[in-house]
Amino acid sequence: MEILGEEAVKGQESWVQPFKLNELEGLFLYVKYTFGLGTDMHLIKKGILLVAFGSRIPAAQSAYQNIDQKVKTTFPQIPVRWAYTSAIIRRKLAEGGIQIDSVEIALAKMMDEGFTHLAVQSLQTVSGKEYHDLVRIVRAFELMPHGFQITVGYPLLSSSLDMTRVAAALIRHIPQERKNEEAVVFMGHGGSHPSNAVYTALMYHLQQKDPNIFVGCVESSPTIENIKQILLDRKIKTAYLIPFMSVAGHHALKDLAGNDENSWKSILTACGIKSVAVLKGTAEYDDMVDIWVDHLKDAIASFSSFEVQA
Ligand code: CO
Repeated sequence: MEILGEEAVKGQESWVQPFKLNELEGLFLYVKYTFGLGTDMHLIKKGILLVAFGSRIPAAQSAYQNIDQKVKTTFPQIPVRWAYTSAIIRRKLAEGGIQIDSVEIALAKMMDEGFTHLAVQSLQTVSGKEYHDLVRIVRAFELMPHGFQITVGYPLLSSSLDMTRVAAALIRHIPQERKNEEAVVFMGHGGSHPSNAVYTALMYHLQQKDPNIFVGCVESSPTIENIKQILLDRKIKTAYLIPFMSVAGHHALKDLAGNDENSWKSILTACGIKSVAVLKGTAEYDDMVDIWVDHLKDAIASFSSFEVQA
């Protein structure tokens, strides 16, 4: 089969005027394409795809369900789908009979089902590698013939306003019994992407309010060793350990509060600092979820500029 390029098509008048319509046929086609009768070309079908890393920990599911419910309540007319980016977690869930799509499969299904406007909401915390990979996948789908208009909602910490809201929410949820001379140590994920600097920026914001609040990263810096040294210098005796991740999954249970000698709890205990772990993910708090939902609202609001009237 010969595939003609755009230039070739433009050069062939017969492609655009293959036959002459009589008046009645012309009127019929005018009505059909103007009012979308008998064709779905003018119909708008909006969808939402929520994208998370994924987790197999049952308690983490309640965090995802919290987001799911808030999104469905905010956008009752728009179908909501989920995708997990982690292939390992999807495979393990599938072994237990739970089928969760990858981003690629979820987008392909929605394209096939005729969605025209799609808001993909990143449930990541910062715009690191995971987020940028998601954007690249979305862009590839946008370029497809018969593709849909897609917008991607930003991760949790994506603006100065987000920074203020996240810092306030984190402080709000510190257990009330914690005393000022005790430390609060949040564990972010982190990675090699430049956006890792956001964790240090967050720590700066938190310490403006309370100098004994720290943010470290399990996969990068600031490290627990960095934080440990400051706690020792300040002669801090107790530290509250709290995940700064959407769900209290594997990292929270093992690397933060686990009994392995490399866990943050074990590292601090070994130098005489008592640890109190609070195993709740950010997605379990409504004021955090509101930030993701607001980003989704922005993504959906940008639909209107390319909406076609039916
Ligand atoms: Co990880």
